[in-house]
Amino acid sequence: MSPAMKAENQPQEELTSPENTISNDELHQKSKVTVVGSGNWGSVATKLIASNTLKLTSFHDEVRMWVFEETLPSGEKLSEVINKTNENVKYLPGIKLGKNVVADPDLENAVRDANMLVFVTPHQFMEGICRKLVGKIREDAEAISLIKGMEVKMEGPCMISTLITEQLGINCCVLMGANIAHEIAQEKFSEATVGYRTNRGIAEKWVRLFYTPYFIVSAVQDVEGVELCGTLKNVVAIGAGFVDGLEMGNNTKAAIMRIGLREMKAFSKLLFSSVKDSTFFESCGVADLITTCLGGRNRKVAEAFAKNGGKRSFDVLEAEMLQGQKLQGVSTAREVYEVLSHRGWLELFPLFTTVHEICIGHLPPTAIVEHSERAPKFSLVEGSAQYY
Ligand SMILES: NC(=O)c1ccc[n+]([C@@H]2O[C@H](COP(=O)([O-])OP(=O)(O)OC[C@H]3O[C@@H](n4cnc5c(N)ncnc54)[C@H](O)[C@@H]3O)[C@@H](O)[C@H]2O)c1
Repeated sequence: MSPAMKAENQPQEELTSPENTISNDELHQKSKVTVVGSGNWGSVATKLIASNTLKLTSFHDEVRMWVFEETLPSGEKLSEVINKTNENVKYLPGIKLGKNVVADPDLENAVRDANMLVFVTPHQFMEGICRKLVGKIREDAEAISLIKGMEVKMEGPCMISTLITEQLGINCCVLMGANIAHEIAQEKFSEATVGYRTNRGIAEKWVRLFYTPYFIVSAVQDVEGVELCGTLKNVVAIGAGFVDGLEMGNNTKAAIMRIGLREMKAFSKLLFSSVKDSTFFESCGVADLITTCLGGRNRKVAEAFAKNGGKRSFDVLEAEMLQGQKLQGVSTAREVYEVLSHRGWLELFPLFTTVHEICIGHLPPTAIVEHSERAPKFSLVEGSAQYY
């Protein structure tokens, strides 16, 4: 029996242990799922979820997917084409989403009946989306964020799960992992990590919703650690792309990945002393870092940037190479840089700092190896809360 099925059939005592706060009534009501977002990963996540809601009795069959409406070159609306063909022809062509998926361009209508909200849009749109959703969602709604990125505000960095919790007043888990969307769309084996705050019962429900024999999901009690891994690896992937563009070879790329992982861990622990070392060994940590540095879109566009000697901007390359998909690493590098400079930590994070300075043209792409291991002033010790 698969872990997902085991979870579905677990005796109630296990789900209502002192750590869990879901009531029996809630457990027995059918949950209704809406996915907010319909890009490349949003569409694949919807496909995974829709295959499970048909099988699991604790979920309504129908999965609503909010579509940021676009008019296609044919003149048709994207949401109408998705509902007609069961395919997201722009962001995931050639893959059927499942007949129980309904594309809905009306955000309020899409979330109205849902008690399980899956957020999966590029992070820069989330503040606006949350603003529109205030007062429009069910009071008992639970959320999960698949979004990699953060917002930097005057008072400091704000993770997307925190933005959702603060603006909408609901609990928010996260799901991150080594998950390049088009590979999962083809049902190739991969793993993912759910991060939860306190409620293990809710985490198990999210695991059940996503788990398939080719998509193995496990849960850890470390929202910030999981989310920061997913967010920060995109900055390292930009560095890996520079190395590829400069044809520096595999050893150099591995060195950038190692330094990057060290900075990911130090940065996460400086911001949140609760972050666990073990999280970096889950799919959301080292596995996601590896896949993103080998195959992701951030690496690909950074490679082109370095090949052009930094003369063609990331905005131009993104528009040219990604057909409407969004790059996260460059904006995350800027956001991380803002945090580092605000807190006086720039010298502690030579790789993160260098990646941003290359992205904005202050340093040439070759600086990735000249500056990244500029001996930090002290070793990045674990749990260094004293640097706050
Ligand atoms: N693609 C992947 O392989 C992958 C894997 C894991 C996580 N993620 C993360 O998932 C999140 C979503 O990425 P994706 O790949 O689904 O998207 P995407 O980059 O493929 O597509 C961009 C999406 O943004 C929408 N959009 C454009 N303008 C908008 C606006 N003003 N307001 C709201 N939406 C707008 C588009 O309609 C489209 O759905 C990101 O945080 C990404 O880091 C992606």
